[in-house]
Amino acid sequence: MNPLLSKAESGGYLTRADLVELLALPKDDPDFQALLDIADRVRERTMGDGVYLRGIIEFSNICRVDCHYCGIRRSNKTLQRYRMPVDVIVDTAKRAEGLGYGSVVLQSGEGDALPPDELAEAVRRIKAETGLAVTLSVGERTKEEYAYWKQAGADRYLLRHETSDPELFARLRPGRTLAQRLQCLQWLRETGYQVGSGFMVGLPGQSLASLAGDIDLLRELHVEMAGIGPFIPGPETPLAGEAGGTVEMALKCVALTRICIPDAHLPATTALGSIHPMGRQLALNAGANIIMPNVTPASYRENYQLYPNKICLLEEPEHCAPCVAGLIASQGRYVATGQGHSPRVG
Ligand code: 5AD
Ligand code: FES
Repeated sequence: MNPLLSKAESGGYLTRADLVELLALPKDDPDFQALLDIADRVRERTMGDGVYLRGIIEFSNICRVDCHYCGIRRSNKTLQRYRMPVDVIVDTAKRAEGLGYGSVVLQSGEGDALPPDELAEAVRRIKAETGLAVTLSVGERTKEEYAYWKQAGADRYLLRHETSDPELFARLRPGRTLAQRLQCLQWLRETGYQVGSGFMVGLPGQSLASLAGDIDLLRELHVEMAGIGPFIPGPETPLAGEAGGTVEMALKCVALTRICIPDAHLPATTALGSIHPMGRQLALNAGANIIMPNVTPASYRENYQLYPNKICLLEEPEHCAPCVAGLIASQGRYVATGQGHSPRVG
């Protein structure tokens, strides 16, 4: 057995070099499964067997950025751009609550998907009219906007750093820099959100050292949540034709993140479920403890494909809820109730 596994098991500090060595484990090496099993035990000890459900509401696909990896990038002209009215957002949140979800994530493209005061209004109404926790995922914004929405009642914010490699970042997100993104993450901390970040696995030009840097960055940011999924190349993007991330590499990244940040909430991502029929189940057994079912009304979904072959494209939320519950039960786990805040905030 690789001695780094005993270090991981006993809670020892994994250096970047250690992370690289573990990320290099081939999938047919028994140590590969041993690594995932260690993460599973860490998850069980720190977070228990409950799996929290966060309903995602993709309220607008309007975006000012032209990320090379993303299916709703500004220059994709094949999409119908939409913006859900505040009433529809609030009704969708109520629908999510009716399905037993304890929190919703309001996600959109970056930029003027919805005027800031309308988004604040949606947050205020959801907080007043439901018992849901509210997470925002609307990209790089000003500190004032972050503070404004926090005051409106938002609890958490998701802003994946995407890749910790500054050159790769700048290449894939034209006009934006990693430094700006990290500044936003810092502002989110300062304004009092529970902060989520994360990255894509298998971007073209991404090395193992760079992935180790991604995990290390999450540890440094001491995130409350981290979304980690494979990159999936999309047809209407400059990266069409590139190879995507693999299930195995994504699982190793989830597992190592669980080992490095034992008390973080880690979703079994939709992207993992989209490249492998058991992707989310495998992640639940490699450190993940969250599922984020899509609750966007079906009529909007086809215009919010960040990547192709996204699961549940034509499903209404009422269809996904029992499916996800079954998936969780099939892994010997249970659906956790309540808002599912970070254990750090109690
Ligand atoms: N493949 C996988 N994940 C993607 N995302 C965007 N485009 C893709 C893709 N092609 C992820 C990004 C973003 C999150 C909302 O979706 O990490 O932060
Ligand atoms: Fe949507 Fe399974 S999660 S159908």
